[in-house]
Amino acid sequence: MTLARLEVDEFRCIERAELRFDPHYNLFVGPNASGKTSLLEAIFFLGRGRSFRTRRLDRLVRQGKDGFRVVGWVESAGRTSVLGIGGSRQTTEIRIGGTAAAGAAELASHFPPQIIDPEVHKLLEEGPQRRRRFLDWGVFHVEPQFLEVWQRYHRALRQRNAALKPDSDPRMASVWDSELLAAGGRLDEMRRAYLDLLSPTLADYGRQLLGLDVTLAYQAGWAHDESFEQALVRSADRDRRFCITHVGVHRADVGVRVEGQLARERVSRGQQKLLAAALTLAQLAVQEARAPGSGALLLDDPAAELDGERLGLLLELVRALNVQLFVTALRPDLPGLGHPGALFHVEHGRITPVGSPG
Ligand SMILES: Nc1ncnc2c1ncn2[C@@H]1O[C@H](COP(=O)(O)OP(=O)(O)O)[C@@H](O)[C@H]1O
Ligand SMILES: [Mg+2]
Repeated sequence: MTLARLEVDEFRCIERAELRFDPHYNLFVGPNASGKTSLLEAIFFLGRGRSFRTRRLDRLVRQGKDGFRVVGWVESAGRTSVLGIGGSRQTTEIRIGGTAAAGAAELASHFPPQIIDPEVHKLLEEGPQRRRRFLDWGVFHVEPQFLEVWQRYHRALRQRNAALKPDSDPRMASVWDSELLAAGGRLDEMRRAYLDLLSPTLADYGRQLLGLDVTLAYQAGWAHDESFEQALVRSADRDRRFCITHVGVHRADVGVRVEGQLARERVSRGQQKLLAAALTLAQLAVQEARAPGSGALLLDDPAAELDGERLGLLLELVRALNVQLFVTALRPDLPGLGHPGALFHVEHGRITPVGSPG
């Protein structure tokens, strides 16, 4: 899978861009505030249907305009799919091959970009929601049934929570328990199986990048010494009192441990960034092992965050993954990645190829 071509209109500071990409390594060089991250954001949006910087669409629409447009041509096994996103200040519309798509998950099966940016440490520092999303993104790419089961679970959860409201019949909540337990049990299995796949690669990257023992500690979303069903029964009174389902896979988390201690209590901010980058790369490696040539990686200004030696080590791992790369930098002399197949200069929101790709 290769993002071969991209058109961007009225996105952030980019008025218009029409770009052709190299299948391996694209480098965007420009001064601060020139639009480099904005371009990565547009590429990310194409595959994820959201930004990695903000939830607010109005931030993405170019100032003074009503909407943005991002269109990408993705080549895979000799076929091209056209992905299109139209965004206004309120809503987005996703089209795949000219047809309206049901949701962002459909985009991800055509073009699944990963990002490592200066905020990557939030994966470890912030609450469990980010880590659940990370986990589920990984499972989605190795387990074809994941999306359907995830949707079933969340439908049952919504219905159950609605039935827990004071004005509804108390018996209605337990009607949803069997569905919640069935779908939740399946999701739990899938997540465990995925973490078994991810852990060896993460341990390997952790040793290479940090010289430390990195492990994952999965928390299912209920106490480890009981089953989901037992936990649901035990939580029934509390659920009714607070009108919400307290236990289940929607409460799962993955602790990242360094030498047996919780990472955010053990390592520095700089090491947390490396660790979060290692997680992202391990996820990409697992995905590539399943579907070679399917991944894409966005690296936003890696040189700003890491010192020379660590940066070199990280970029060596990146290079070995052999996925399509989109990298930003202040200067073109990034160590470890070799020569870019396509180099672009970015200034005042204008993106210009330097020489020709390939
Ligand atoms: N919606 C918008 N409309 C116009 N300009 C914007 C919008 N959002 C951000 N910008 C501007 O885009 C510029 C480039 O930002 P950014 O892509 O983060 O640059 P870089 O990554 O090159 O440092 C900034 O000056 C910012 O103020
Ligand atoms: Mg930037």
